[in-house]
Amino acid sequence: MLDYLRLTERATGTKEGCAEGDCGACTVVLRRLVGGSLVYEPVNACILLAGQADGAEIITVENLAEGDRLHPVQQAMVDQHGSQCGFCTPGVVMSLFALYHAAEGPVGRDEINDWLAGNLCRCTGYRPIVDAALAACAGERTDRFTAEEGEVRARLHEFADADELFLGSDEEGGAFFAAPASLRSVSDLLRRFPDATIVAGATDVGLWITKGLRPLPRILWLGRVQALAAIDDAADAVTFGATVTHMRAAPYLAAIDPDLGELMRRFAGQQIRASGTVGGNIANGSPIGDLPPALIALGATLTLRMGERERTLPLEDFFLAYGKQDRAAGEIVRAVRVPKLAADERFRCYKITKRFDQDISAVMGAFKLRLEGAVIAQARIAYGGMAGTPKRARAAERALVGARTDFDESWRGALDALDQDFTPIDDHRASASYRRRIARALLRKALTEMSGAPSAQTRVVGIREERAI
Ligand SMILES: Cc1cc2nc3c(=O)[nH]c(=O)nc-3n(C[C@H](O)[C@H](O)[C@H](O)COP(=O)(O)OP(=O)(O)OC[C@H]3O[C@@H](n4cnc5c(N)ncnc54)[C@H](O)[C@@H]3O)c2cc1C
Ligand code: FES
Ligand code: FES
Repeated sequence: MLDYLRLTERATGTKEGCAEGDCGACTVVLRRLVGGSLVYEPVNACILLAGQADGAEIITVENLAEGDRLHPVQQAMVDQHGSQCGFCTPGVVMSLFALYHAAEGPVGRDEINDWLAGNLCRCTGYRPIVDAALAACAGERTDRFTAEEGEVRARLHEFADADELFLGSDEEGGAFFAAPASLRSVSDLLRRFPDATIVAGATDVGLWITKGLRPLPRILWLGRVQALAAIDDAADAVTFGATVTHMRAAPYLAAIDPDLGELMRRFAGQQIRASGTVGGNIANGSPIGDLPPALIALGATLTLRMGERERTLPLEDFFLAYGKQDRAAGEIVRAVRVPKLAADERFRCYKITKRFDQDISAVMGAFKLRLEGAVIAQARIAYGGMAGTPKRARAAERALVGARTDFDESWRGALDALDQDFTPIDDHRASASYRRRIARALLRKALTEMSGAPSAQTRVVGIREERAI
């Protein structure tokens, strides 16, 4: 997308900083219809494939001002001195433009900080930028984009058809970008082209191109398949279609437990959350993906589909070994079903990173206990970053059964058992000994909180009680 904008359209306002989705200099906004509503998604043009804008309107920084009249967000950036060298500024402005349209009334500093977590400014500093956002979003939304929403909705509706998209050549050795519109077409294409690269949000695959310089001649993008984007919110579980984005999934996860809401708030930045998908976070098999440990602890099940056949397995069984998943060539991740918590169940999850925002986990721990009074009747514990896959701590789980939440001496067996469960490695995110110590500390923290300690005593930011209120 960024190459298309800069080299073909000569729309050079959008910048390239990192080319890997981290700095936000390339932020543009996709205005699209999601479930009948018009949404403004900030995305990283550097790693987005141009074809992923299918069915959406692309809004770049060039589109905001009307003649000499700056957009309210741009004007506020000028008024508050929110720019010095200016390299980050187009991206910052586009993130704030998306926020301007995402919220109806005034927005607070915390929300603004979340929307800016994916935008790096190295010279101005964030105080004036946040002040600009506060000023721009203080009043009514009066820009021309608001005024034209009815007309745009109707035009985008015309694009929301069931047409298949196939650009390129289907001959042997040919290259193509395919965007099938149904599960049947996905199956047909994968049968014919088992070597095609499946793409959902491209927040991993985009980096294979920009950083790995990998040629990807055959691309099968799942973004047009409506059936894969569904969310089914039932009484006992939420089922996410594979291409549900993190931005859409977040409120459903937060409703299951406030810790899941906090996890999603710290999952990358808004631009990655707007593109990256729940299915991609599982299918990529990463040992440090954030959702798998949390969903495994909750007892999630995964549905895979090949041709017309579907099979369902516990999520933990999908991860076989580092880089190896239980997924055959031509099989896709179809959906993940996440059980809600029963009245006697408690859940906690914690993400440990070097940076608070927009960072990938060194260790991630998730814990679900079923309690009979103060006695632990059942435990499900899963960690990321402790092995070659996201993995359950089965020895610690066994040791917890029968322990009491109100007697910390009874936790020792489970804490010690973590050493049987994991032999972590040293890498650039953390040493093995740090990982072992933090895994133990997280389990102790979960048990301490479940025994009744308020999170204000156990965390830098005590969020649970606040959120629940
Ligand atoms: C700046 C940045 C920050 C990030 N921060 C985090 C973070 O905080 N936490 C975290 O966990 N991850 C993070 N990620 C990683 C990434 O965003 C997530 O893993 C995301 O969920 C991947 O989803 P996607 O739809 O973009 O996957 P894609 O890039 O489209 O695909 C990823 C892999 O899964 C395959 N795939 C995708 N969908 C399917 C399917 N339905 N069936 C079969 N195969 C499929 C693809 O072929 C590919 O191998 C970050 C990435 C970046 C660039
Ligand atoms: S150029 Fe840094 S996020 Fe795209
Ligand atoms: S103004 Fe220079 S990087 Fe932000």
